Amino acid sequence: MQTMKQLHKQSSPVSHLRDIEMNQHHTYSPKAHKHSRSLLQRSIHYIIKEQRLLFILVGILITSAFFIMQPTLSRLSHSDPRLLSSVSVLDHEGVSSYGDTGMMTAAIRRVPVGIRRKRLRIVVTGGAGFVGSHLVDKLIGRGDEVIVIDNFFTGRKENVMHHFGDSRFELIRHDVVEPILLEVDQIYHLACPASPVHYKYNPVKTIKTNVMGTLNMLGLAKRIGARFLLTSTSEVYGDPLEHPQKETYWGNVNPIGVRSCYDEGKRTAETLTMDYHRGADVEVRIARIFNTYGPRMCLDDGRVVSNFVAQAIRKQPLTVYGDGKQTRSFQYVADLVNGLMALMEGEHIGPFNLGNPGEFTMLELAQVVKETIDPSAVIEFRENTADDPHKRKPDISKAKDLLNWEPKVPLWEGLPLMVSDFQNRILNEEEGKGQK
Ligand SMILES: NC(=O)c1ccc[n+]([C@@H]2O[C@H](COP(=O)([O-])OP(=O)(O)OC[C@H]3O[C@@H](n4cnc5c(N)ncnc54)[C@H](O)[C@@H]3O)[C@@H](O)[C@H]2O)c1
Repeated sequence: MQTMKQLHKQSSPVSHLRDIEMNQHHTYSPKAHKHSRSLLQRSIHYIIKEQRLLFILVGILITSAFFIMQPTLSRLSHSDPRLLSSVSVLDHEGVSSYGDTGMMTAAIRRVPVGIRRKRLRIVVTGGAGFVGSHLVDKLIGRGDEVIVIDNFFTGRKENVMHHFGDSRFELIRHDVVEPILLEVDQIYHLACPASPVHYKYNPVKTIKTNVMGTLNMLGLAKRIGARFLLTSTSEVYGDPLEHPQKETYWGNVNPIGVRSCYDEGKRTAETLTMDYHRGADVEVRIARIFNTYGPRMCLDDGRVVSNFVAQAIRKQPLTVYGDGKQTRSFQYVADLVNGLMALMEGEHIGPFNLGNPGEFTMLELAQVVKETIDPSAVIEFRENTADDPHKRKPDISKAKDLLNWEPKVPLWEGLPLMVSDFQNRILNEEEGKGQK
């Protein structure tokens, strides 16, 4: 029999609650149990129970897939439209047929995932001229930004027109004899008339361009910390007494002749370049360019290759000066552009001879042009011009060793590429005359 106290205990709501509480306290044992497990065990239990492991694995898979795909995606979206357009232009000019595209693609592939080559901003003075415009094509094709400075004395807008509308290309009509302020990483200084017809036209202007133009561009390089490359010339060797010419040869130049505005102008430009390097720590490069030919050369600039080709196309006699036994070497423009870029990107100041050591007499060259364009063309001899060097052939062992560069395009391959460009332009010229 239960006592009244016991009955009261059972029936009282307060005591009922207390019992429940006590029971709950008693059955809430897992807490004590939980404390007995190690942190590691608890973590593993939690991960397995909540399927966290699965989520982590799926996350890793998705991230890896993204990074594997990323280079391909960036190559397609970033480079292809420009590569394709530049390649089509270069193909048309015959410049890219020596592996440019392959080199560009390989360069992109070599860049590690997530790291892109810094895009450079580059000035090309004289960039609307023959050599300059091919250099611009290659720099834009590589993905850089290019600012062309040109006064159009011998250059033409048509040479760079295919870049109009590209945000990475700018064209400034400017004479390098006047200073200019720009922010760039590199300066390729080409501005200067290069053919005797043009540089003799206004000799004082030619030497001003070489001296003041080079001073202005070196001053700019110093102010903004840009690397500066001068395109000098084999003419600094004058009528050489050493053959072939090495960079160590100091030359045999007439300082008062009709060519000296150019020869001595370029020699002074080299001096200024070295003085800015020694005195002001400007990073400089010097290229001594030997005869170069290719599409976009001026039609009537008096240089021997363009002369012969234009004459043969127009069915005129090929004019050979003197006895035609003077020798020259001829370099295709794509080879030169590769050499200039190797020099700019490399660690050596120079000077470096950039030319094709294959030597031809003027008569041999006339013969090759005849065979390529018109076997019935006749050769006409004329009196030689003053100070015309008898021999010119580069020794390029320094460039081979230090820049790992040498020309690849033989005359018989390069000449037809130039001929088709000249044929089109001469045809357009004649059509233009016919319409007047
Ligand atoms: N082509 C060759 O065989 C050869 C050989 C040796 C050296 N080079 C050198 O290479 C460079 C380019 O030669 P190129 O054959 O292309 O000649 P180019 O005449 O076709 O080009 C020279 C460019 O410079 C521009 N220019 C001239 N004076 C200028 C000035 N004061 N301000 C701004 N622009 C000016 C011209 O308008 C032209 O666009 C020159 O410095 C030349 O001396 C060329």
